[in-house]
Amino acid sequence: MCGIVGLVNGHAVAGDLVTALGRLEYRGYDSAGLAVAGPGFAVRKVVGRPAALGAEFDASFTGRAGIAHTRWATHGRPDARNAHPHLCDGVAVVHNGIIENHAALRASLVAEGHAFASDTDSEVIPHLIAAARARGAAPVAAVQEACAALHGAYAIAVLFEDAPDRVVVARQGSPVTVARGAGASAVASDPAALAGFCAEYAALEDGDIAELRGAEVRIADRNGRVASRDWQSMEAAEVAAEMGAFGSNTRAEIAATPAALRRTNAALAGRTLPAQVAAAERLVMVACGSSLYAASTARAWIEQLSGVPCDLEVASEYRTRAAPIVRGTVAVLVSQSGETADTLAVQAHLRARGVPVVAVVNVPHSQMARTADLVWPTSAGRELGVAATKSFSCQLLALVRFGLALAQARGSATPAALAAVEAELTALPGVCAAAERLEPQLAAIARRVASANEAIFIGRGPAASIAAEGALKLKELSYIRADAYAAGELKHGPIALIHDRSPVIVCGGVNDDKTLSNAEEVRARGAQVIALVEQAAAARFAPVAHDVVALPGSGLGLVFAQAVALQLLAVHAAEALHCDVDRPRNLAKSVTVE
Ligand code: G6P
Repeated sequence: MCGIVGLVNGHAVAGDLVTALGRLEYRGYDSAGLAVAGPGFAVRKVVGRPAALGAEFDASFTGRAGIAHTRWATHGRPDARNAHPHLCDGVAVVHNGIIENHAALRASLVAEGHAFASDTDSEVIPHLIAAARARGAAPVAAVQEACAALHGAYAIAVLFEDAPDRVVVARQGSPVTVARGAGASAVASDPAALAGFCAEYAALEDGDIAELRGAEVRIADRNGRVASRDWQSMEAAEVAAEMGAFGSNTRAEIAATPAALRRTNAALAGRTLPAQVAAAERLVMVACGSSLYAASTARAWIEQLSGVPCDLEVASEYRTRAAPIVRGTVAVLVSQSGETADTLAVQAHLRARGVPVVAVVNVPHSQMARTADLVWPTSAGRELGVAATKSFSCQLLALVRFGLALAQARGSATPAALAAVEAELTALPGVCAAAERLEPQLAAIARRVASANEAIFIGRGPAASIAAEGALKLKELSYIRADAYAAGELKHGPIALIHDRSPVIVCGGVNDDKTLSNAEEVRARGAQVIALVEQAAAARFAPVAHDVVALPGSGLGLVFAQAVALQLLAVHAAEALHCDVDRPRNLAKSVTVE
């Protein structure tokens, strides 16, 4: 949430800042701003996306060091006044995170005579730094002093009017990487923003302060000691799938699913588990959003293959209760970004209690990946659309492969059963490509769904979880109110919602007869049934359903085909309603605040 960038270059940086910031747009896009130093500050702030900052900069923007920010509002409305950078007496700051003690800090700064210009929590930071500078502290020392007063999470980049050749960076709790080489140094929330500007990058650790000058980056740890961090070639920072003719990143990323699944298969096929993980007596899977639905969809396969019971926990909820930890528990954390604050907090909680942590994560340089006992990569490649699509499918595949590896290590499934699953997994890219070819039918259905104010999704077993992910996709992208229920739960209340023409999306799966009965029950009450079922079940659903989408695959394959179909349904419903598919309102791809 929120993206920050800073650049120190041999030439004017304003244009490069806008380019780099545009690559961080997935982190938030309600307002944007930049400042370049020397002489004086040149500042531009806009409401909306980074591109609104423009590409033309007059002679006041010739500074060779600058910082920029794209915002996802936490404190204060998304307007130009609250857009970053925030300024105070020759200090400019961009911030990602939340300063929890901002009210108390603001009150004491106001008492000292400071005047504030925004409603943000972030604005206290430049005031604290400026106060330290006024007391004679040098730039790095002033940042250090200010950080000592902050409670909460932050990644900040700081610019100084009287030291216009540098940017100072600090991190506590929010992700940030620094980069160097090719005559420049830089900082960004995500190294992919800096491709083409620097040769290598390193993630900062909590407590680090870095000073960027020329092509040099000096990093000190929380005790002020010189810190060496793990530098990686910028080529390792993945570039995104080309949007091409698809019209949106999200649509391009759905189309990239088969290739992404091939990568996941190649990365994980035959991979074995360390003894500590293979000996698990219980698994606890923890995640948020789509990652949670990927975990809940995969749970049945993991349990069936390995025989290990598997609990499922919403990260934010798990944090709020001191759940007893059963001996022999292994945690499986699932996250696309590896940055989600709640999931990271659970990771720290569990590791502190000696629970081994497996991270099923897509971003290899993320904090979750760096601090896990075992990284089980999803390998989906960079995903820019805010709503998870190809990354969801790759998480699901990676999790089933985790169950397979567990079964192999424990001898809990016969070689024939293992080989059958392996064959299903190898076939998945083809199944998803075939599901995508049903797009014209799905687009026509989506246009009708778009004219309703609500939709209900049902399914059983893994298909219930896929139904939940389908409902999430529809609400995220089209803002249509969508609920999902386990089909068996319908009669326990939700069926009261059904009225004439309510769209009910039925995800067929295991135990189709029961799901078919549920479809009949809602149809009898006037619902418009849209059945997403395997080809073999299409004829049985035809008399009940307004639409039957006969999907490729069965068993595991069907679930993957349903995921693709539901994503396409949501994209087309959103397009029919003229929603911005890549930038749904109020959302951000990386939720780095709690
Ligand atoms: C946000 C995104 C979702 C994502 C969730 C969890 O809400 O919009 O697409 O599923 O965060 O993110 P993670 O990176 O942990 O998978």
